[in-house]
Amino acid sequence: MKKQENIIVMNKICKSFQLEVGGVQQVLFDITFNIKSGEFVSIMGPSGSGKSTCMNIIGALDTPTSGVYELYGKDITNMTADELATVRNEHIGFVFQNFNLLSKRSVLDNVMLPLMYRGMSPEERITRSREMLRRVGLEKFESYLPTQLSGGMKQRVAIARALAGNPKLILADEPTGALDSKMGNEILHFFKKLNQEMGITIVMITHEFDIAKYSDRLIHIYDGHINYDGPVPATEATLTRKMHRTHK
Ligand SMILES: Nc1ncnc2c1ncn2[C@@H]1O[C@H](COP(=O)(O)OP(=O)(O)OP(=O)(O)O)[C@@H](O)[C@H]1O
Ligand SMILES: [Mg+2]
Repeated sequence: MKKQENIIVMNKICKSFQLEVGGVQQVLFDITFNIKSGEFVSIMGPSGSGKSTCMNIIGALDTPTSGVYELYGKDITNMTADELATVRNEHIGFVFQNFNLLSKRSVLDNVMLPLMYRGMSPEERITRSREMLRRVGLEKFESYLPTQLSGGMKQRVAIARALAGNPKLILADEPTGALDSKMGNEILHFFKKLNQEMGITIVMITHEFDIAKYSDRLIHIYDGHINYDGPVPATEATLTRKMHRTHK
């Protein structure tokens, strides 16, 4: 797939949280990277390293404390909550570890719901959602409840839901974290296919090197600093922990 312009530009992004007990915790330090259209990137790091915080900023779910973030050429740093919601709705499909499906609504309803905000007619929403379910191989399950499906199937419903909005970018936070390795591999193959065949840009968060290996580029975060950014190395041992210390 052809790679084009930078769709994600993170320039010296810092994020701090105000703690309940007083004081401030800085979680991200000068995070700088660009992601081009058509890339499949993993953001990897141990628990607590700041991956989800970083993804929340990439996904316009949160704003940085300092630094500049441009998504599709728009500086989102000072956007209001409503403006951020519009940007998300327009560009991004989200996939989460725990699927985030509505358990009392059918599979079809779950895929259709986000399309409510897009001004489509009910018929269009149904047609589009069925097409997405077909794409993830679940067309026969549209009237099931999520509780009647396996974990891998639930995640495929979540992917169909993410795809329904026709996003150019999918953000996935530990998408295989709740799945056994067979189902996890299936989901990862599916992401690979979406990336290669449809040119969808994928940014996937993981703490496991074996999962990051499915991507083409790896950004390793350690203690809120970028420790490595490049092609996925042959072995995890290359990802040393030394670099971030030099920032302090
Ligand atoms: N809203 C918040 N308020 C205060 N601290 C926070 C908040 N969100 C995250 N943190 C802190 O930021 C650090 C990084 O959290 P984050 O969730 O980004 O880590 P992670 O790399 O995604 O970890 P995991 O692999 O466990 O999901 C942690 O120390 C966490 O306690
Ligand atoms: Mg996380």
